[in-house]
Amino acid sequence: MPVAGLREAIGRAAGMLICTPEYAGTLPGSFKNLLDWTVGGVEIGDKPVGWVNAAAPGRGEGAEATLRSVLGYTGARVVDAACVKVPVERGMTGEDGLIADPEVRRRLGEVLALLAADDPA
Ligand SMILES: Cc1cc2nc3c(=O)[nH]c(=O)nc-3n(C[C@H](O)[C@H](O)[C@H](O)COP(=O)(O)O)c2cc1C
Repeated sequence: MPVAGLREAIGRAAGMLICTPEYAGTLPGSFKNLLDWTVGGVEIGDKPVGWVNAAAPGRGEGAEATLRSVLGYTGARVVDAACVKVPVERGMTGEDGLIADPEVRRRLGEVLALLAADDPA
C-alpha cells in the first residue's frame, strides 16, 4: 500500500528536505495529501526537516506557511536554518534537467549540510 511505503521510506530517512511548487497560494493538493498521510504516524517523529523555496523572489510564501503548519502536526523538527529561498530560473537547468548553475548548486549543498549537521542536543 503506498501509504505504508511512504511511511517506511520516511522511517529510514535521517531527515527530509522538501522542495515543492506553490499552487494557488498553498501546497499542491496531492502533496498536501501525502503529508496528511504522515500525520498520526511516528515515522517523522523528531526528524530534522527543511525546505527550499525555489520560486521567484517574493513568491511561494503560502506554500512555506502551509508546510510549517502541516509539519507541526507531525512532530517534525523544522530546522529554520535549512528553510531557505533559492530562486531557480528555467535557464539554470541543463539538458539533463539537473541544475547547472554553480551558485545555486553551492547553495543547495549548503542547505543539505545544515540539515545533516542539525543536532538537537
Ligand atoms: C495550478 C497552478 C497553480 C499555481 N499557483 C502558483 C502560486 O500560487 N504561486 C506561485 O508562485 N506559483 C504558482 N504556480 C507556479 C508553480 O508554482 C511553479 O512555479 C510552476 O508550475 C513550475 O513549473 P513550470 O516552470 O514548468 O511551469 C502555479 C502553477 C500551477 C500549475
